[in-house]
Amino acid sequence: MRRLTTALVMALMCAGGAASAQAPDMTGVIQGRQAALMLSGVAMGSIKASIDAGQPSSTQAFSTRALARWAHALPGLFPAGSGAESGVRTKAKAEIWSNRADFDAKAAAYAAAADRLAELSRGEDAAAFAAQWGEVRASCQACHDVYRAD
Ligand code: HEC
Repeated sequence: MRRLTTALVMALMCAGGAASAQAPDMTGVIQGRQAALMLSGVAMGSIKASIDAGQPSSTQAFSTRALARWAHALPGLFPAGSGAESGVRTKAKAEIWSNRADFDAKAAAYAAAADRLAELSRGEDAAAFAAQWGEVRASCQACHDVYRAD
């Protein structure tokens, strides 16, 4: 009995050791970025609704700042190993990691466009604010066209 218990404990320890040597669990990273991406879609929709309703751009200061902060954080939520090989459901294409510099450039273009939108929300040029919303939207699309699976 004692010997059996010792064997069991050792087997469990080996299993634990094997598990910790495996790739890290990416569930939180992937689900977190997907939630943030969905919320960025919600923010874009509500900003557009305020533009269409003719509200002052200053009412969108918080939403645009949140969007800009997320845009800067986006690349960090795509660490190596967080693609399909993680076993977690994701639409992130493998090209993100084989073409990383271009992916980061597209994320930087998005961040610059979102920074400008936040800046314009502090001013009073409604037409410029509306046009910049279109620039941000185009920067989302430019990345999806290449790096997001259908
Ligand atoms: C630099 C690249 C990049 C930019 C810029 C980008 N996205 Fe994405 N987006 C992705 C990738 C990659 C995925 C797939 C992520 C996954 O499934 O893990 C995605 C997924 C999404 C999803 C689906 C999330 C889900 O799981 O259902 C939404 C919604 C979305 N993006 C909205 C936006 C919006 C809105 C913008 C701009 C304001 C934007 N994205 C900008 C790369 C980008």
